[in-house]
Amino acid sequence: MRTIVAGNWKMHTDRTTAAELVNGVVKGLEALPAQVEVVVAPPFPFLASVAEQVNGTRVLVAAQNCHEAATGAYTGEVSVGMLKSIGVGACIVGHSERRQYFGETDTAVGRKMAALLAGGITPIYCCGEVKAEREAGRHFDVVGRQIDEAFAGMDAEMIARVVVAYEPVWAIGTGLTASPEQAQEMHAFIRSALRNKVGALADTIPLLYGGSCKPDNAAGLFGQPDINGGLIGGAALDATSFVELVRLATAAKH
Ligand code: 13P
Repeated sequence: MRTIVAGNWKMHTDRTTAAELVNGVVKGLEALPAQVEVVVAPPFPFLASVAEQVNGTRVLVAAQNCHEAATGAYTGEVSVGMLKSIGVGACIVGHSERRQYFGETDTAVGRKMAALLAGGITPIYCCGEVKAEREAGRHFDVVGRQIDEAFAGMDAEMIARVVVAYEPVWAIGTGLTASPEQAQEMHAFIRSALRNKVGALADTIPLLYGGSCKPDNAAGLFGQPDINGGLIGGAALDATSFVELVRLATAAKH
């Protein structure tokens, strides 16, 4: 099974600090064995320059969003082909912040994933429940529906090329984190939901945990059998912390 540590920079950094951050990540990784896949997701304006900076290193560049159409009159949007042309290899889709602030639905996210797969870019599909849903005991229903709706219409070969990130919304940027047991329980549920769709291929789909994952709590999370790495927000903005998370994932998995 692959292990992936991905950093979602969200709407942070500028031209200078983006270059410094990725430089620090590349330098820090030199001391580690290359067993874990490392992904950074800078904001759109810095994707091309960061992709050039990591060319020839083990770091892969991801976008944080895309549009499903190939081209067209969609002011402000960015297509899969554009991303591909500058060396982007993966794309986060369905992040809870995009669902919450930009009204993205599971079906819309499903269309983006189909476009990404057709264009040869790996979707990192985010799912996860909000606090009230967990408190009401509905978290498995919510995540199960997110998986079903976003993957509707996709065949097993397509689904098997997706990376899934479980990001409980109540843990994102809050300092609260799911316990290793809570995260493992949900990851096992996601794995079984995927198994219903793709059979044994489900065991090859990396499931990342996201939500206040930091060097001081990551070892417990990465130690769980169905947690195959992390999607990191705040701690990815500091090269030392991010590289430490890669080290912890390497130690836990390899
Ligand atoms: P934090 O690590 O800042 O909680 O963010 C997680 C996240 O949303 C990654 O996509």
